[in-house]
Amino acid sequence: MTTTNGSAVPRRAGIADVARLAGVSVGTVSNVLNRPDRVTEKTRSRVQAAIEELSFVRNASARQLRQGRNRTVGAIVLDITNPFFTEVVRGVEDRLAEDEYTLMLGSSDEDTVREERLLRRFEEQGVHGLLVTPSHTGIETLLRMRERGVTVVLLDRSSPVPDMASVAVDDVRGAVLAVAHLLEQGHERIAFLNGPLTIRQCVDRREGVLRALADAGRDPESLVEVTVESLNADHGARAMRDLLDGDAGATATFCVNDFTALGALRTLRERGLRCPQDMALVGYDDVSFAAELATPLTSVRQPTHEMGWRAADLLLTSAEPEQVLYQPELVVRASSGG
Ligand code: RIB
Repeated sequence: MTTTNGSAVPRRAGIADVARLAGVSVGTVSNVLNRPDRVTEKTRSRVQAAIEELSFVRNASARQLRQGRNRTVGAIVLDITNPFFTEVVRGVEDRLAEDEYTLMLGSSDEDTVREERLLRRFEEQGVHGLLVTPSHTGIETLLRMRERGVTVVLLDRSSPVPDMASVAVDDVRGAVLAVAHLLEQGHERIAFLNGPLTIRQCVDRREGVLRALADAGRDPESLVEVTVESLNADHGARAMRDLLDGDAGATATFCVNDFTALGALRTLRERGLRCPQDMALVGYDDVSFAAELATPLTSVRQPTHEMGWRAADLLLTSAEPEQVLYQPELVVRASSGG
């Protein structure tokens, strides 16, 4: 075999090469690898020496194909640079490791085309199942994959159908907690930095914001809405600049997630504005950095690691699809005057 520049690539040693060098059968090598108790210590040593000399590595995918199963799980989240998903995926990984499964991970970047490409690739790889945070409100592709026998668990999304497992947080309730807190702090004009309404989390959080205003007898027209194109710090910084330049008179801002709030804080600092005195802030997720900021961030906590762990557990164990819905918790810190 040669590479594109014509240089020879050494063939990877196979199990037959190991058997030949050790002077045993392929079956004996297989026993050393899988059932070492069936082989004498002397034979085991000879085979191990041959494995080391040839730098032999088992071809797990070939073995899994022979056994008709794959111990790999695919996970597709919106953005792995968002600490929320990093912490959720760690929970996934910790559960998979308990049953010796490995994880294949990708970001859809809230892009349906990119998500579909990843879904197709993971299915072609023959993954044991998929954990997906859908990039948009529809899940038609996932339903079709399930019809083809792919097990799917929705991650950070409630299932719209009873026979698909899911793990999510009540995002409507989370946003109610955030805005009710700001109203209790006496803010008359509140801004909401939200992502595109093609993302279910953004739809639900907006519903919670409007519900909190209605519960307090406030005019929904008093809400100042600014859309962030993508739910990250750079777009949060830009949205806060737009909000301040628009001079809408908001004294508090609820950000759709902590990542966005991080950017909003950067803009306040750049403009010489104080938080919470000039602009109070509340984020969402309560990721690990929220408490570490110079102005610790008030945020709506999601049980990130547990969400990931539970979604992976549903994928590996549940006979019946289960919809798990966690309740959010408001963690009050200095950024909202707590
Ligand atoms: O990715 C968008 C957001 O949705 C994350 O920050 C987290 O809040 C998730 O629920």
